[in-house]
Amino acid sequence: MKTSSLCTPYLLLVALGLLAVLLVVPSRLHVDDLGVLCRGADAKSNNGGHAVDEEAKEFSLLVGVLTMPKRRERRDIVRMAYALQPPPPARVDVRFVFCNVTDPVDAALLAVEIQRHGDVLVLNCTENMNDGKTYAYLSSVPRIFASSPYDYVMKTDDDTYLRVAPLAEELRTKPRQDVYLGYGYPMGGQPMPFMHGMGYVVSWDVATWVATAGEILDRNDTMGPEDLMVGKWLNLGGKGRNRYDLKPRMYDLNWDMDNFRPDTVAVHTLKTNRRWAATFRYFNVTAGIQPSNLYHLP
Ligand SMILES: *[C@@H]1O[C@H](CO)[C@@H](O)[C@H](O)[C@H]1NC(C)=O
Ligand SMILES: *[C@@H]1O[C@H](CO)[C@@H](O)[C@H](O)[C@H]1NC(C)=O
Ligand SMILES: *[C@@H]1O[C@H](CO)[C@@H](O)[C@H](O)[C@H]1NC(C)=O
Ligand SMILES: *[C@@H]1O[C@H](CO)[C@@H](O)[C@H](O)[C@H]1NC(C)=O
Repeated sequence: MKTSSLCTPYLLLVALGLLAVLLVVPSRLHVDDLGVLCRGADAKSNNGGHAVDEEAKEFSLLVGVLTMPKRRERRDIVRMAYALQPPPPARVDVRFVFCNVTDPVDAALLAVEIQRHGDVLVLNCTENMNDGKTYAYLSSVPRIFASSPYDYVMKTDDDTYLRVAPLAEELRTKPRQDVYLGYGYPMGGQPMPFMHGMGYVVSWDVATWVATAGEILDRNDTMGPEDLMVGKWLNLGGKGRNRYDLKPRMYDLNWDMDNFRPDTVAVHTLKTNRRWAATFRYFNVTAGIQPSNLYHLP
C-alpha cells in the first residue's frame, strides 16, 4: 500500500451492507486517482487528519458531489474529470456523497469503490430527490470534519464539470465568513435569493449554522426543491450575506453544445457521455494524452 500523499488523509468510510456501521478510518487507502488534485499538498504528516505541509495553500474547500449508487459510470467520468485538473491554489477534497445504501449489491460494489478511491461520504438519509439530502450533507459535514474543518463547503452534482482552479481563484479573494457563492438565480426582484444547484459554496460558519438551526427543522424546510430551500434558510436566518454570482462563468450547456467559454467555472447538464466527451474536448483534457504505439484514437 502506498503511504502517500493523500490530500485525503482522513477518510470517512461507511461500512455498508445491512449493518451500515459508521467508521472513521485514518486512511492508508489508494486514492491516486485524485492525484492531481492532491499535488502540492503531499504532506508527510497529518494534523488531526489534514496535511499540515500546506503553507502554499491559502484555504481549504470540501467539494461534495451528490450522486447515487447506480450512477457508477457517471461517477467514474466525474472522478477522472477532477483527477485530471491542474492543482488549484487551495486544498480541495472531493467527496462523492450518498445517502444510506440499502441494496446489498450496491453496498458491495460501493464498498469496493471506497477501498479503491477513498473519496466517498455516506450520510444518514434516505435516497430520493428532494427529500433532504442537501440538508443532510450541509448539516453533517461540520460534525464529520469537526476535528479539521474546511474554510468552505461546496455542493455540486454529477452532471456538473467543475473547474477547481478557477473556482479557487474566485474564492481566494473572498471573505472566509458568511459566504454564499454560485450561480445566482434571480427571483421576486432579488438578484440572487438562492444559488442554482449545479454548484454552490458556503463558508464553514454558514454550514455550521445550518447544522444547528432548529428553525429549519421546525419549519419542515428540509424537504422540497433543495437548492431553493438552502436560499430560503439563509435568507430567513440572515446568513450568507457575502453573496457572489458567478454567472456567466457558471452555466448550463445548451442543446447544440456550442456555448462553452474558456473562463468557465462550472458547466452543467452533462447528462450523457456525449456531452462529457464534448466537454473534455473543449477543455483540452483529451489533448493531454501521450503519443504511443499502444493506442490510436480518432
Ligand atoms: C439516522 O437517522 C434516523 C432517522 O432520521 C435516526 O433515527 C437515527 O438516529 C440516525 N442515526 C444516526 C447514527 O445519526
Ligand atoms: C440509515 O441506516 C442506518 C443503519 O441501517 C439506520 O440506523 C438509519 O436509521 C438509516 N437512516 C435513514 C434516514 O433511513
Ligand atoms: C412538519 O411535518 C410533520 C410531519 O409531516 C407535521 O406533523 C408537522 O405539522 C409539520 N410542521 C409544520 C410546521 O408544518
Ligand atoms: C485548448 O488548446 C488550444 C490549442 O492549444 C487553445 O487554443 C485553446 O485555448 C485551449 N482551450 C482551452 C479552453 O483552454
